[in-house]
Amino acid sequence: MIRIGPERDADAREIETLLDRAFGPDRTARPSYALRHGTERLRGLCFSAREEGRIAGIIRFWPVIIGQDVAAALLGPIAVRIKSRNREIGARLVRRGLRACREEGHRIVVAIGTKAYLGRFGFEGARMQDLEFDPAVEDDRFLVYELVPDALDGVTGAVRAASSPKGQTHKRRRPSVQRASA
Ligand SMILES: CC(C)(COP(=O)(O)OP(=O)(O)OC[C@H]1O[C@@H](n2cnc3c(N)ncnc32)[C@H](O)[C@@H]1OP(=O)(O)O)[C@@H](O)C(=O)NCCC(=O)NCCS
Repeated sequence: MIRIGPERDADAREIETLLDRAFGPDRTARPSYALRHGTERLRGLCFSAREEGRIAGIIRFWPVIIGQDVAAALLGPIAVRIKSRNREIGARLVRRGLRACREEGHRIVVAIGTKAYLGRFGFEGARMQDLEFDPAVEDDRFLVYELVPDALDGVTGAVRAASSPKGQTHKRRRPSVQRASA
């Protein structure tokens, strides 16, 4: 039986192993890790799935800033160990995480992930919403989700780590005209 619950400090090593296997040992070089630099994960929003005493999957969230001062939660990583996949553990973790974000008053969730997976929960391309991030990250991997309707109205600009100074931005990847018609 799968149980979803808050991530525990005692599981740290097992979780690191799971993440290394899911994303590779060089995972910390990924652009998404730049968004976590210098910050602590949002502990109340981090969950694990356990099965027979072992970690079967995890989801974490981190604080980020959009534009000059709009707070958002960064979803990531989400990972399920290989032999436990395709049993909705990932889906349960995403739903649980998003519910917890909403309950804690968050309005916007950003993710650097796979639209083919996260799209099923309502994530959309963030550049279509005039958000900016590292141009090396493809449009269909830079995603955003509104936890409350119209949370993105009037919100534009670069997504950055909550620890970054204001004004640190990435250049836009394409002119906005192209993005609007994409
Ligand atoms: C993505 C991941 C967390 C999904 O976990 P899971 O528990 O197997 O997911 P679920 O059981 O909820 O969903 C399975 C469905 O998602 C699909 N899926 C899984 N990974 C996918 C991906 N990268 N792209 C598109 N679809 C994906 C499966 O094909 C399956 O589709 P179906 O429902 O049409 O059969 C897991 O595959 C994983 O850990 N992947 C490696 C880490 C990773 O890429 N994380 C980032 C994802 S944004």
